[in-house]
Order: sequence, then C-alpha cells, then structure tokens
Amino acid sequence: MPRNIRLEDAYSKVRRNLGRRVNSIKEFRIPSTDVILEIGCGDGLNLKVFYSIGYRNILGLDLSFFLLRHVSPETPSFCATAFSLPVKSESIDTVYMDSVFCDLTDFHKPVNEVYRVLKPGGLFCSCEPRRSFVRSAFDLLTFSFLSNIVNFFKYRRQEYEEDWELLQEWLNSTGKFRAYLQELNFDEVFFKKGLLGFWLKARKPYS
Ligand SMILES: C[S@@+](CC[C@H](N)C(=O)[O-])C[C@H]1O[C@@H](n2cnc3c(N)ncnc32)[C@H](O)[C@@H]1O
Repeated sequence: MPRNIRLEDAYSKVRRNLGRRVNSIKEFRIPSTDVILEIGCGDGLNLKVFYSIGYRNILGLDLSFFLLRHVSPETPSFCATAFSLPVKSESIDTVYMDSVFCDLTDFHKPVNEVYRVLKPGGLFCSCEPRRSFVRSAFDLLTFSFLSNIVNFFKYRRQEYEEDWELLQEWLNSTGKFRAYLQELNFDEVFFKKGLLGFWLKARKPYS
C-alpha cells in the first residue's frame, strides 16, 4: 500500500478520543474570538472539536492532501508545509499544534514561522509527545507480538514505525525546543507534563 494511504489508515484508527482532545483544547483557555491556525491539522479532528465548542475563526493546514480531504467544510483548510507558511505576518491570534513537531526533521524553521505569523501577544499552544516511563512501556508493547493480535498496538505501530527515528530525535530535543522558544523571547505561560506528552502554552512578546 502506498505510504500516504497506509498512514492515513493508521491515523484514522489511533488518537481518536474526542473527549481527550476537548480537554486538551480547553486546557489552553484560548479566547473564543481568536483567529486560530492549526498547523498539521491532519484529518481535522481538532478543528472539529474547536468548532463544536464554539470557535468560529479556525483555519487548518497540513502537508498531506490525503488527510485534508477528510476535513469538514465548516473549517477551511489548505495544503502547505510548516517550514514555509503561506500566511501573512502578524495575522494570527493563536497557533495550535498537536503532535506535529515529532513528525518534522527540524523544529527551528517551523518555530520561526509560528513566530512570524503570530500577532504581537499571540499565543502558541503545543501538545507533543515526551519521553516518559509510560511511553517506553507502551513502545515496548507496540513493538511486541501484541501488534499482531491487538488492533490498538497494530495501528500505533503502523503510525510510528516509518517515522520512528524522527520521533526519537524529537523526544531527545524537547528541552532544546523550549530553550529555543525562550531565545525568541516567547513567554512560557505553562508547561504541563502528561503520562505520554506535554502541553506548552507560550505568548509572543508584545514588542
Ligand atoms: C501525528 S499527525 C497529527 C495530526 C493532528 N494534529 C491530530 O492531532 O490529529 C502529524 C501531522 O503532521 C503533518 N505534517 C507532517 N509534516 C508536516 C509539514 N512539514 N507541514 C505541515 N504538516 C506536516 C502530517 O501530515 C500529519 O497530519
């Protein structure tokens, strides 16, 4: 099966828990009138959640045309790369990114792009995987015989195995990611650790 279709299949089977996504999004306390850009929106699950809880100025962007085909027409979306956003500078109130940096070869250029498109005082909300004991245990099970008999592990394995090295690189560089945000003078509002990932909210300086 071609890579895009196989990954699309895996994406549509894991991380589908909408309740968890609602909680994640609410955690960031994004003002309801904000113009929100979700970078790496995939097939639009977060966009759907934003819409369902009352946000109306939401835009999605993803590299995968295959995944974008599933995004609801209620929430406009377009195909582009996080490395070069076709978005006007200082035009966005909030950038939202969920599990995207772990798919990228480098975080510096995309973070520069986030900085560029955000208005002064704009919010950067990011949830990403982090290294943890629970993740290591999950990974062990995912790459064990269980992936042949338990669908959850089968699809997790499909989602992860092709980009495994990128994920490991990301897990090793989350500290550098935070330090780079500081270098750009982002003000870290919070950094919360979950069992498998983290939530980071940061504000672009006003001047
Ligand atoms: C793990 S998925 C997460 C999707 C979505 N954020 C979610 O939580 O359901 C990672 C997403 O990043 C997208 N992606 C990977 N590289 C990208 C890039 N350079 N620019 C934009 N999106 C990218 C993939 O196509 C995929 O949809």
